[in-house]
Amino acid sequence: MEKDNLRQSWFQKYRIVSKQLDKVKQVSSAATAFNTNIDAIFKITGSKLSKLIADNHLSMSDMEKVSQINSPTDIIAGIIKCFSRGIAEEWITDNVAIYEWMEKNFGYDKLQMGGQAGIIANVLALLGVHQVIAHTNSHPRLQAEQFLNLDNLFGINEKNLLQKANTIARLEDVPLVHWIIEFDKGDSFIIDGQKITCPKSNRFIATYDPLNMNLVMNQGFVDYLNSHAIQYLFLSGFHPLQEKSNGIELIKKATLVLKNWQKANPNMIIHLEIASTQDFEIRKAIIDNIVPCACSAGLNERETIDLLNILNKQDLAQDIENNTHSPLLFEALLFLKKTLKLKRIQLHMFGLYITLQDEDFSCTPEQTLNGMMTASVVSSSKALNGELANYDDLTKAIQMPVSDQGLEELVALAQMLKNDSLKTTGIGKVDNYWLCAIPTILVDKPKTLVGMGDTISSVSLLAAQ
Ligand code: GLC
Repeated sequence: MEKDNLRQSWFQKYRIVSKQLDKVKQVSSAATAFNTNIDAIFKITGSKLSKLIADNHLSMSDMEKVSQINSPTDIIAGIIKCFSRGIAEEWITDNVAIYEWMEKNFGYDKLQMGGQAGIIANVLALLGVHQVIAHTNSHPRLQAEQFLNLDNLFGINEKNLLQKANTIARLEDVPLVHWIIEFDKGDSFIIDGQKITCPKSNRFIATYDPLNMNLVMNQGFVDYLNSHAIQYLFLSGFHPLQEKSNGIELIKKATLVLKNWQKANPNMIIHLEIASTQDFEIRKAIIDNIVPCACSAGLNERETIDLLNILNKQDLAQDIENNTHSPLLFEALLFLKKTLKLKRIQLHMFGLYITLQDEDFSCTPEQTLNGMMTASVVSSSKALNGELANYDDLTKAIQMPVSDQGLEELVALAQMLKNDSLKTTGIGKVDNYWLCAIPTILVDKPKTLVGMGDTISSVSLLAAQ
């Protein structure tokens, strides 16, 4: 009964979302950097995976040892890991043969916008931010086609000038295609004669992308931000770097670029989306160099575990691996808030978003909560509809109630914090920080999952008006 009342009360709270969507249209400008690419979506079924395992004579004990892509069978190891646990990871390769193997063996079902910068640019432009500028280090026609046909959405053309993103064709550029290998909850595959069933729909990403792997920057974009006022900057794209390929130096160089932008735009709000970063040293370099430039960060459960593992919190990381629920994840978030000294940090976990922000952060906790609910509607609409291509797509899920899972996570968090009102208000105070938490709408059979985190983080911040 209590759950019914709670669900009803959150349903009422979510009615604010239509108003928030109008407020977003007042945001003057946002830029997104650095990684834009093309995603090739490929749905792998359990039977196709079983066949690949059998054809390549693979066993679980071999697969468990693999954590990066050096040969095509390593891709299968990545898929097995994510499929069997229902988790999301991205592994990087600098070997073009792997790309060719995927092209030949997988193909794809469809192409869509990829990369944090590209995905966020599309959604923010659709929401009606006056001017959105996306960084692209490669912008051939195929990349341009992944941008929505919107007059407020820009990229940089071959003359280093701003131009409507979907009309740009930098003809010399090569398309950067990443494979997004999706699998469905309940589907199963066979390995070592055993049947393994997927606990949660998710995806494994295999990336060969010579430009984003080297953080190649577009000079026109760099110059533009040095000389124009921008309200929000959404930052990501450090995760494909590798220590062995000069990644640390590239991060340090990027820091100088960021500092210049900050000088030109002292009031710009910089949000960093922490992405799945396999290389430990790169993860550390992001924390040491990029995080201090940002005032806000967004991350999911996996990325939280990854950060704990390099911040000497292996025990907590392991506990979360075993028990991925809100009380432990909150503990981790609080630790990260303090350690990383960010003004705002947001975790988007399955069914629940939690934000911790400083008391004097530029928006109130109520605004943050409203932004988070807007993000829940927009991202679940994306999952329900498969894409966000038209304005009406943004609200396809607006009438859906929040999930039971989300309510359970929120109740568990409120109990742990001994703050009963958190269940209904979503707002609390912990160690002088504002805490905002919302149960989210969940789509049972999502048509797409890739880019959910990027959508959630960017809309949460931008719609906190
Ligand atoms: C990573 C991947 C990209 C994908 C994005 C989604 O940046 O490289 O292919 O679109 O994550 O979040």
